[in-house]
Amino acid sequence: QGAGGHVGYGKIILLGEHSVVYGRRAIAAPIGLTVRAEVGRGTPGQAPIITDWDADGSVQEPISADVSHRVATLIAARLGLPQSGVRVDVFSELPRASGLGASAAFAVALIRATAECFSIRLSDEQVSSLAFECEKIVHGTPSGIDNTVATFGRPILFKKTDAPSGHEIRDIVTPNPIPIVIGLTGMHALTSHTVAAVRAAWQQRPARYDAIFDQIDSLVGEGADALRRGDTVELGELMNINQGLLNALQVSSPELEQMVAIARRAGALGAKLTGGGGGGAMIAVAGSAGAEPIRAALRGAGYTTYLTEIR
Ligand code: PMV
Repeated sequence: QGAGGHVGYGKIILLGEHSVVYGRRAIAAPIGLTVRAEVGRGTPGQAPIITDWDADGSVQEPISADVSHRVATLIAARLGLPQSGVRVDVFSELPRASGLGASAAFAVALIRATAECFSIRLSDEQVSSLAFECEKIVHGTPSGIDNTVATFGRPILFKKTDAPSGHEIRDIVTPNPIPIVIGLTGMHALTSHTVAAVRAAWQQRPARYDAIFDQIDSLVGEGADALRRGDTVELGELMNINQGLLNALQVSSPELEQMVAIARRAGALGAKLTGGGGGGAMIAVAGSAGAEPIRAALRGAGYTTYLTEIR
């Protein structure tokens, strides 16, 4: 924040994606990658002008041009600026459609930068709730976890509820940083598609799928305790079981399965897909040998990796 524009945080879901859409708990944490936005006044009455950059000056769109215009237009309208015209520069470190929350990070950065440009004061809750509206354009029926972490930028236990805010959140503080390797499948996957597929399956057999969601919820509860103790061995095991259940929900993919296998062989204590699945990203918690062997093995197989820490 400050001089260089405003940021939204990318995130990983450590445990609980998909079941979180059905009111079960999930754990998510920010990663060191952000989307930053700078907003200036444009020509009144004109549509928002959005330019995407990445750190090198080349182009990286966190979401498609069409969707980013709809999001920018919604933000202007909700902030009472429907006719003011804005020029937006977007600097994204986050790969698009990869399960790392690029769309929510984009919305948060844009809301903060637009509010600042027009001297509108917003609380973090207001930022998050407007970003949630934006996420509905992108995802259809989001749980709210992405916009929450994109806004607050700290590890949380999250549950969708009927409360006015739409959720309950608890901070998760770990006694020591937990090293995580992120691997990208390179396959773009739309969360709206995997979420719709899970919904169709659940509508056919609600009891069968609710039982899976309940099992994931209890892994999440144990995971929150493990994180608070800094117990990475337990966290890894819970992540492995969660991956099995995500597989049962049929949201994994051949590339994700391959990356999970590579990470575990290279010493990961646990590995699973993160986010919507169907492609996108995998996360692995490093063991005593550290993150480097896992990273090297994934890179050797041709995958892009990032290193982050839960702290
Ligand atoms: O793919 P992402 O980064 O948007 O994460 C989606 C997480 C889901 O639980 C699958 C959907 C949601 O809205 O919570």
